Parts: sequence; structure tokens; C-alpha cells
Amino acid sequence: MLKSNDPCWCGSGKKYKRCHRADAALVKPGRQSPMRPVPADIARPDYAETGTPRVWDEPAVKSPEVIERMRRAGAAAAEILELAGKAVAPGVTTDEIDAVVHEATIARGGYPSPLNYRGFPKSVCTSVNEVICHGIPDDRALRDGDIVNIDVTIFLDGVHGDTNATFEVGDVDPESRRLITVTRECLDLGIAAVAPGQPVNAIGRAIQTHAEAAGFEVIRAFIGHGIGERFHADLQIPHYFEPSATRTLEAGMTFTIEPMIAIGTWQHAVWPDGWTAVTPDASRVAQFEHTILVTDAGADILTRTP
Ligand code: MF3
Ligand code: CO
Ligand code: CO
Repeated sequence: MLKSNDPCWCGSGKKYKRCHRADAALVKPGRQSPMRPVPADIARPDYAETGTPRVWDEPAVKSPEVIERMRRAGAAAAEILELAGKAVAPGVTTDEIDAVVHEATIARGGYPSPLNYRGFPKSVCTSVNEVICHGIPDDRALRDGDIVNIDVTIFLDGVHGDTNATFEVGDVDPESRRLITVTRECLDLGIAAVAPGQPVNAIGRAIQTHAEAAGFEVIRAFIGHGIGERFHADLQIPHYFEPSATRTLEAGMTFTIEPMIAIGTWQHAVWPDGWTAVTPDASRVAQFEHTILVTDAGADILTRTP
């Protein structure tokens, strides 16, 4: 049992009495339901049983055949995200959203990529208010005024499609709504910066410039990633300007752009569950994500509904 003056369990560095004991508005860990089963006839990624993904040298530039499969996985992920967003309402638990995503993924013949990925216990990430990312669905009911990010990834035809969006729950305050708008613009500007011959850091430069002009900060610890047959492949896409990220973009590369933008500090802390990342100042965070393909003309968004 924590005493009043002990440091809070959440990693904020504040005293427990000034942090999670005092503030009823903060998100707290709830109760998780048992792991949902996936039918045996659905093809699983290599980590589904062990929790540990195989690390191999997947080419950053994909073959046309892999790209074709990624288009299908991406479109399915987008459809599932749309369905999950329609389930968002005050009183709905994040576990109920997990059930929607799980069932919709299986219905399309896919495996929910988060399930047992490095031991993650659920089929989707649900990140509420000050949770930056990797929130674990549980019995917490969404409240009027919350914001919630739903991060859907499907493994279909041997490849992953990864997309997320932040949704308003009921009546949301104007500053949180502005945060959501600016964050969506950050993703759009990041995508617009993609073109063959450009350095990777052109993406983060565009995002950081827009976020900071709005008075917000860019989360540093979580970045976009190469994607394909691996959920997280080697390519790294920072959402801030990183001078050393000079790799040249080439047509056929696939990766995610997924900026997390905070009203307050860019710093983060992780809950004892090893997953849930939060802002130490409890400021709210929004995020949007697409899986994209570099083309001769610029970028194609693979995670778009047809
Ligand atoms: N979908 C997340 C991303 O955008 C990764 C979630 S990993 C999990 O990269 F294990 F938490 F599911
Ligand atoms: Co994602
Ligand atoms: Co991602």
C-alpha cells in the first residue's frame, strides 16, 4: 500500500497524495477481461503463441505483390477503425471497444495484431485523455468529455495494416477539440512531406512546426515505423525534427506516420503494467495514424476506407 508521501506508482515523480490519490479525473487501471480467442483457421503472425516477434531483415522497399496484400490489410484496418469509432459513447467500456475490434477483425479473416504482441493482452489499444498510447482495454466506462484514441492493427494475408484515430466522447471542451484538429493536421502535413528523394526527417519537421505553432508539444518516445510482414520493421519515423534521420525515401517503402501531440509536456511515464504511457503532467494527448506507401508522385494512404 502506498503512503501519502511516496512517489506515485504512475511514474509522474509527484507524491501519491498529489497525484493519483487526489485526482478522480485521472485515468486509472481497471479490470481486464480474459484474453479473447482467435479461431484456429485464422492465420497468425509469428509471435501469436510466444509473444516474441521474429526479427529479420525485411526489405524497406516492398515488391508489388506485398504492396497488393498491404492494400487489402490497410483497407480492412480502416473499416474496423470506423466501426470501432461508431461504438464510442459515454458509458461504453474500453473492453467493449476491444470486443468490437476483435470480432470485426476475425469477421474479415484477420488476426488482431496487438494480441500477445510482446505480451500485450488485448486486440486493440485504447488510450484515454492523458494516456499517450498503448492503453489496455479494461472495464473503465468512457465518460462524457473524454477523448479516446483507438489504434487498430490487422494481420491479413501475411501483412499488417495499422491505423488509429482520436474520438470525442459526448461533449468535449474546446481546447481538447483544438488538440484533435491540430493533430489530424499534423498527420496530413507529415504525409504531404513524403516524396521519393526526401529525407525521413522532412516528415517530423513538418509535424513539429505545425504542432508547436499551435502551442502543443510532440511526444518523442514513440515514433512511426516500417511495416509489412513485420508489425514493426526497421525504418524509424520520428514526429519531431531529428537531424540524424537522413535516410532517403524511396518509392515502394511502407511505413506508418502516427504523431502523438500533447497540450502540455512531450515527456512520458509508463504505468507498472509496462504498457500504458501517460504524460507526467496529465495533459491530454491526441493521435492519428496511417500506413502509407511512398509512390513516384508522393504518398498513397493504404489505411483508407474504399
Ligand atoms: N498499433 C501500435 C502502433 O501504432 C502498436 C501497438 S503494439 C501493442 O505501432 F502491442 F500495444 F499492441
Ligand atoms: Co497503431
Ligand atoms: Co503504428
